[in-house]
Amino acid sequence: MSDLVALCKQRGFIFQSSEIYGGLNSCWDMGPYGVELKNNLKNRWWKAMTLRQDVVGVDASILMHPTVWKASGHVDGFSDPMVDCKVCKERFRADNIDMTKPCPKCGSKDSYTDVRQFNLMFKTQMGAMEDTSSMVYLRPETAQGIFVNFLNVQTTMRKKLPFGIAQIGKAFRNEITPGNFIFRTREFEQMEMQYFVKPGTQKESMEAWKEIRWKWHLENGLRAEKIKWAPHGPDSLAHYADAATDIEYEFPMGWGEMEGIHSRTDFDLKQHQEYSGKNMNYVDQVNNEKYLPYVIETSVGADRCLLAIMCDAYRLENEGDADKERSVMKFHPALSPIKTAILPLSKKSELEEVSTKLFEDIGGVYKSEYDVAGTIGKRYRRQDEIGTPFCITVDFDTLNDHAVTVRDRDTMVQERIAIANVQNYLKDKFKF
Ligand code: GAP
Repeated sequence: MSDLVALCKQRGFIFQSSEIYGGLNSCWDMGPYGVELKNNLKNRWWKAMTLRQDVVGVDASILMHPTVWKASGHVDGFSDPMVDCKVCKERFRADNIDMTKPCPKCGSKDSYTDVRQFNLMFKTQMGAMEDTSSMVYLRPETAQGIFVNFLNVQTTMRKKLPFGIAQIGKAFRNEITPGNFIFRTREFEQMEMQYFVKPGTQKESMEAWKEIRWKWHLENGLRAEKIKWAPHGPDSLAHYADAATDIEYEFPMGWGEMEGIHSRTDFDLKQHQEYSGKNMNYVDQVNNEKYLPYVIETSVGADRCLLAIMCDAYRLENEGDADKERSVMKFHPALSPIKTAILPLSKKSELEEVSTKLFEDIGGVYKSEYDVAGTIGKRYRRQDEIGTPFCITVDFDTLNDHAVTVRDRDTMVQERIAIANVQNYLKDKFKF
């Protein structure tokens, strides 16, 4: 993980937030390559979800009416048990340590405070009055923005059950123990979809969504042996769920949840109906029925999924062999922040002229880079490190044969391609 964190900083993927001020614990900024990679990931999720007839999208606000969080159960139930070591003052989640054993940080015995429940929601004030009536929360999950809009979406879109609502957005949790880079942070992005179904059909719907979501991760290039199912037993179910399973990824620090798939029953709609006084029933005009739908939720953290993608793609090849050693990000080409690099072999104006024209043509279609600095070997290594699938070298032969050398990131095989065919060649390679 430390190699990956270093590469992320050196190569402009991820920087520590407010670094010049010493950083802000658990907050990270996406750099130029990080934001491209994350946008590619989010776009793939958005397309996979909304290029279906039965799913539409929303983008709800982060600040919501405070009663939403009373109704959802987050005010009373969204807390973690917290203890402090009285000696070194380190704070722990009580469910993450064995309190009969010495403090994992300083080794002192019998020195824990009593366990307190710590609510994970961030509070802030809305408007000029700083009293309790103006208190609002930063949303701890995007899901509630979907539940409160269920009828707005269903009626305006004239949707019949089953149908889903998808959303990508920021969520905030005042985690007691954030860490492991972007795995657990206090500000993060979620990609969530709530699928509304007729009660009684939730089991088959959950099975269908499990398959769809598993496939999506494989289609992003994650190795099958690095992901596994982790079903929740009755003791670890969230307060709203009657069944749940996670997709875990084997991160460098061990297996960890990447996505949760929950059967949320009609808990949320029922709660909002009760607290708002508004009827949330779905009206099935064909069968002349009215009821609260059940919900299957798929919820994946964009940042956590990004971390899995980066861990999975990161390879150190031919370690110890100075000539051949390289670190390479073997991203799925659809996710790569940069798709091609145009590399003129020298700075001679004849070569630059051809290369600039090529860059303008290709760069207008695929996010590309133009690099003339350093030996060609070094330039290949730089592109390998950021996961660029193809490097296109313009050399002196190009002036005669009107062809370029295209190097494949993974195989390092080089092919001579006529300039006139490069666009078609790339179109074929980037079919996604
Ligand atoms: N709406 C359901 C929900 O929020 P969750 O299991 O608490 O369920 C879903 O969160 C996903 O959000 C997780 O699988 C994870 O990918 C991501 N996530 C949750 N807390 C996070 C945190 N503190 N930092 C980064 N990602 C987080």
